Amino acid sequence: MSLRAPLPLSLVIPALALSLAGCKHEPGTTPLDAELYQLALNSSGHVWYKNSDELLPRSTGSGHSEAFLRTRYNAIAATALDTLYRVVADTAFPPGSLIVKELWSDASTIGTYAILLKRPDAEAADADGWVWGYLRANGEVRAPAIDRGAACRTCHMQDGEIDATLMNQYFPE
Ligand code: HEC
Repeated sequence: MSLRAPLPLSLVIPALALSLAGCKHEPGTTPLDAELYQLALNSSGHVWYKNSDELLPRSTGSGHSEAFLRTRYNAIAATALDTLYRVVADTAFPPGSLIVKELWSDASTIGTYAILLKRPDAEAADADGWVWGYLRANGEVRAPAIDRGAACRTCHMQDGEIDATLMNQYFPE
């Protein structure tokens, strides 16, 4: 075969599609993971757990390796918070609720966004209607949403959870 022979289109087209996809997202990022990342970046209208944006030292029960964290709730999720901005006991977060835990490696660097989105009709939703997102600060996927919280739920369904959330349990005071 001559070196000049054009590559068969059947090879060129998939290669082109792959390289275009590569421009748009990190490898392995699905549209849902990309959406969760965008949702996590936009904190407008969010409120903080206990109404405080201070970084909290990670708890002993944390499954997350970064040293600090803080957790925020979008306006829909905030309807499940009490007057002190803690989660109401035995509540269920309504559809559309978004909870973002920012995991900080040190006092000035966000390492990861851990995300809970209540979207019961999503393909990636678990039995409680939660979609679990886990993305590095640069958008790289740490755990794909389509895993349905496989790496998260065992820990998050422990005694004392409220609709699979743990902030009240580990930061009661
Ligand atoms: C070994 C236990 C453990 C595992 C595994 C774990 N978490 Fe967590 N998570 C916690 C604890 C404890 C908290 C409360 C804050 C803290 O101490 O970090 C928390 C808090 C959160 C919050 C804030 C909302 C709340 O109140 O629970 C989100 C969102 C979250 N985790 C997402 C995830 C995701 C996504 C995964 C899987 C990729 C995951 N977690 C895996 C223990 C865990």
